[in-house]
Amino acid sequence: MTPETAHPNQVFRASERDIEGIYQLTLPYVAEKILLPRSREQIQADIERTWVYRQNDEIIGTVSVIFFRKDLCEIRALVVKKDSQGRQIGRSVVEAALQYLRNSYEHKPLRVFALTYVPDFFAKLGFRVTQKENFPDKIYEVCQFCARRDDCREIAVELIINGSAHEPDCSV
Ligand SMILES: CC(C)(COP(=O)(O)OP(=O)(O)OC[C@H]1O[C@@H](n2cnc3c(N)ncnc32)[C@H](O)[C@@H]1OP(=O)(O)O)[C@@H](O)C(=O)NCCC(=O)NCCS
Repeated sequence: MTPETAHPNQVFRASERDIEGIYQLTLPYVAEKILLPRSREQIQADIERTWVYRQNDEIIGTVSVIFFRKDLCEIRALVVKKDSQGRQIGRSVVEAALQYLRNSYEHKPLRVFALTYVPDFFAKLGFRVTQKENFPDKIYEVCQFCARRDDCREIAVELIINGSAHEPDCSV
């Protein structure tokens, strides 16, 4: 492993002290309309299911898991600082979140989805492309506030965690 490659020891469950760092990290992507605006209060509300990648006390990657129902959750607000992309940092924070869901979350099967412009990134982590219409909870709760709601180019991807080692395709 080169020094430039992400190291799993630098992935942490987020805490209150990370809120400002997460907020600042997401701002450029909000400006580009890649991410929906997310206030410090919203970040705080999701902090218990948020992961960060820290390097020299700076947060350079983050992701949150948002539950809609006991069997449905979303990978949300995934970002890696622009000059740190391509170092497996995005993979490492999403894998930490998925590991938490596999190990700590009892309800199985659990459907994990994302709405994204980077489906190929998620494919590398075992997600498959699916229909946005499968996730009306998300569409009604969040998408109604999005400036791009009438011209949404995001692609829905999902992964089913069912508790078995191989996680075969068992989506319903
Ligand atoms: C998407 C994002 C989080 C990826 O983070 P990253 O740290 O650069 O990605 P990684 O280095 O962990 O990449 C993991 C794998 O996915 C691939 N990958 C990463 N971004 C990709 C992309 N845009 N298209 C296709 N493949 C991609 C990598 O090549 C790598 O493959 P490998 O394991 O075979 O080498 C980052 O580019 C980002 O912050 N983008 C802007 C915000 C965004 O779009 N967030 C997603 C919202 S759902």
